[in-house]
Amino acid sequence: MSATKYISISSQKGGVGKTTINILAASIFHFLGNEKVAVIDCDYPQHSLEGLRLKELDQLQANLDKAADFQALGVQAYPIVGCEVKEALSIAKEMNGEFDLVFIDTPGTINVPGLVELWKMLDYVFIPLESDVLSVEATLPFAAALEAFAKGKPGSRLKQYYAFWNKHIKSEKQDFYQRTEELFAQQNIPFLKSRLEHSVNYKKEAMRSTMFPLSKEYMRLGIRGLIEEMAGIIFDDGTAKAAATATTENKAL
Ligand SMILES: Nc1ncnc2c1ncn2[C@@H]1O[C@H](COP(=O)(O)OP(=O)(O)O)[C@@H](O)[C@H]1O
Ligand SMILES: [Mg+2]
Repeated sequence: MSATKYISISSQKGGVGKTTINILAASIFHFLGNEKVAVIDCDYPQHSLEGLRLKELDQLQANLDKAADFQALGVQAYPIVGCEVKEALSIAKEMNGEFDLVFIDTPGTINVPGLVELWKMLDYVFIPLESDVLSVEATLPFAAALEAFAKGKPGSRLKQYYAFWNKHIKSEKQDFYQRTEELFAQQNIPFLKSRLEHSVNYKKEAMRSTMFPLSKEYMRLGIRGLIEEMAGIIFDDGTAKAAATATTENKAL
């Protein structure tokens, strides 16, 4: 096993897709990329990720067909540990060496005890934002805080953070997107090339599953390109068990 990588799709803005994309990334790397994945859900007290897992476990108990489908997968589900931010660091450290990838879902606010220490445990942070001024205004200070308190600081693993567009609307005038990317470039905040489109699919239960792989149909959405781009960054040292593209190509398509 190569060194455990710690990743968070995170920001200080609610509703931008942090939880949705943390689940999708964890599930795709686990089920389709063959990486050994764990999730820490410290979005306390919401714990929406842990809640989703509990709901799915209940559904399996109530639905024998579904339970049989799960058995037939022959793949264990990845662990999801719910905790408070201040407990997350020690849980993350215990996972070191046990997993390839640990995804950490954090609250949408930064004034939380223990959060800065947790940031220093992360290798990469991916910051989703929407095309509205509030989203941009929340992202700039968030990136500045990662820069000031974590990136390159003693004892910190944080190598880089990246902004990316979620809920992208192609039919919308694109100058807001362009101007924002220029502004971020001036402030040395890199942007991912991939954009996750606005789509009702991301609200579907099948896309939020923590226990079943995404079907081919959903891998045709922008999520595939986004995860491949993230994989290229996360495994830039060539430690990926499956190459970045194979993450989604081999099994899904
Ligand atoms: N690309 C997308 N297209 C449409 N809806 C989305 C997309 N990404 C997220 N959502 C929806 O936006 C809402 C907020 O997402 P969520 O992941 O809970 O955000 P956060 O964790 O940042 O608060 C949810 O209803 C989710 O289904
Ligand atoms: Mg959330």
